Amino acid sequence: MAHVRKAVIPAAGLGTRFLPATKVVPKEMLPIVDRPAIQYVIEEAVAAGIEDFLIITAPSKKALEDHFDRSFELEALLESRSKDAALDEVRRISELAKFHFTRQGAPLGLGHAIGMARNYVGDESFAVLLPDDILVDQGALLSQMISQHAETGSVIVAAGHYPLEEVVSYGVIDPGEIKGDVINVNSIVEKPPIAEAASNYGLAPGRYVFPSSIFDAIDATKPGVGGEIQITDAIASMISGVGVQATLNRNDRYDAGQKLDWLRATVEIALDHDELGPGFRDVLAQIIAKHDVTPAQSTP
Ligand code: G1P
Repeated sequence: MAHVRKAVIPAAGLGTRFLPATKVVPKEMLPIVDRPAIQYVIEEAVAAGIEDFLIITAPSKKALEDHFDRSFELEALLESRSKDAALDEVRRISELAKFHFTRQGAPLGLGHAIGMARNYVGDESFAVLLPDDILVDQGALLSQMISQHAETGSVIVAAGHYPLEEVVSYGVIDPGEIKGDVINVNSIVEKPPIAEAASNYGLAPGRYVFPSSIFDAIDATKPGVGGEIQITDAIASMISGVGVQATLNRNDRYDAGQKLDWLRATVEIALDHDELGPGFRDVLAQIIAKHDVTPAQSTP
């Protein structure tokens, strides 16, 4: 079974949950500690063996293209000033993989965005990573999903166990047989009403491994929740064919498109940072001592 070397990153969303920061800056470019959020997702995929990316963007998101391109002026300046470490870091970004970009002309849904990758993908199996979801697992989950796909040829989605009020913001799975981290999927519904949620298993983090036959399924998918072409509906239509399995994510996942979770990501990733971690630990201890850091009665 083919090795998965291509990934599609749908990054056309407007980031309205993070306004006003995202009025001009794409939400994927908001920094978490010292790099933009999307760079974590790219590095995760590269660690899982991905070599080539198609990033689906929108007008006003040119910064994404610039970030992964060479920057000759900046590199020449850093070189002339002997800023070697900064130069290596800047060059490393464009050397992580091959990057291609296309624009989703209109916001017609996640399924539609992924459908735009048909010609890029050809007849290979490929991965999709939603850039709001940040994992710091060195590609462990995606590698596991790619192996599972290689064994079965099925569609592989990532899933997590969430409180009922939360799971209904995701695609929700009706699980069949569960063996370790592998869940057989009997049915899957995008953002069901609470009373209709089949389980607490939600499709998050947004990680998928697809055979190329997903494109025919997307083409046959009618608009669903929100009047958009939903990838979840296209996946549901493949259950009776190649089959759908979920891989359970057991690591932390941050929703970087949401203010509170972005703060959590920033603090935790900073604490684990090789260079900044020790100093930040002291700063954080001082902040906690200075403020009355006890949980609020109710979280907003
Ligand atoms: C999308 C998908 C949903 C998935 C979620 C994960 O929803 O449609 O199935 O569970 O991402 O983050 P969105 O968050 O774009 O509304």
